[in-house]
Amino acid sequence: MPCRRRSGTGRRLRAKRPSETKAKMTTTAQQNQLVALFKAATVIPVLTIERIQDAVPLARALVAGGVRTLEVTLRTPVAIEAARAMMAEVPEAVVGIGTILNPADFTRVEKLGVAFGISPGLTPDLLKAATDSSLPFAPGIATASELMMALSYGFDVAKFFPAEQAGGIKGLRALGGPFPNVRFCPTGGVGEANAATWLAEPNVVAVGGSWLCPTAEIRAGNWAGITAICQRTLKALKGA
Ligand code: 3PG
Repeated sequence: MPCRRRSGTGRRLRAKRPSETKAKMTTTAQQNQLVALFKAATVIPVLTIERIQDAVPLARALVAGGVRTLEVTLRTPVAIEAARAMMAEVPEAVVGIGTILNPADFTRVEKLGVAFGISPGLTPDLLKAATDSSLPFAPGIATASELMMALSYGFDVAKFFPAEQAGGIKGLRALGGPFPNVRFCPTGGVGEANAATWLAEPNVVAVGGSWLCPTAEIRAGNWAGITAICQRTLKALKGA
């Protein structure tokens, strides 16, 4: 008969299974990698690529403007192929995938060999898939309860989405009270006018948004215009 150990309160102690320990350590390493990547990026363009032929010139335009870390969203049928083309043709770019909505998306993304993954939200299934993987991953949160779920799976770096609509800087500061160790990448309503204000928050490691790559400019193939937006944004942030 195996001997059962009991704590002073009568609650049974259970040793961690090796898989639990491994998952936790992996998640911590993932988070550290993600923070380093986000900090180096400062601004992350959220890319919606409609035509595969736009992928490489767009990545080149962003990199030429000093913006190297790119989030290709899974919002169009060509997204995966676009990310693959960017990785192959623009080695200076650090390509990640956004709009990961479920474990099936996560598996597709993992196989691509991208640098990171981002979701606008979270589900237990998605968080489980992410803890089973070594891909640095930021779940999306807009409330304290969602953040608590992310933390319960070991994720302490999160996309705050939709940042402006979910309370803006005041909302983020309020979350910083009970969760002082969580780092955020606010996205949604962030742009040239307010990026510096968001980045001045101590718990913000990067900001994301589509202002660096407007759909109209991508459709028009205005690559020089996109480079100029990136340069202007980075210059303004340096001065801030
Ligand atoms: C995202 O998925 O992060 C948002 O669509 C980006 O929001 P924005 O268009 O307001 O920058």
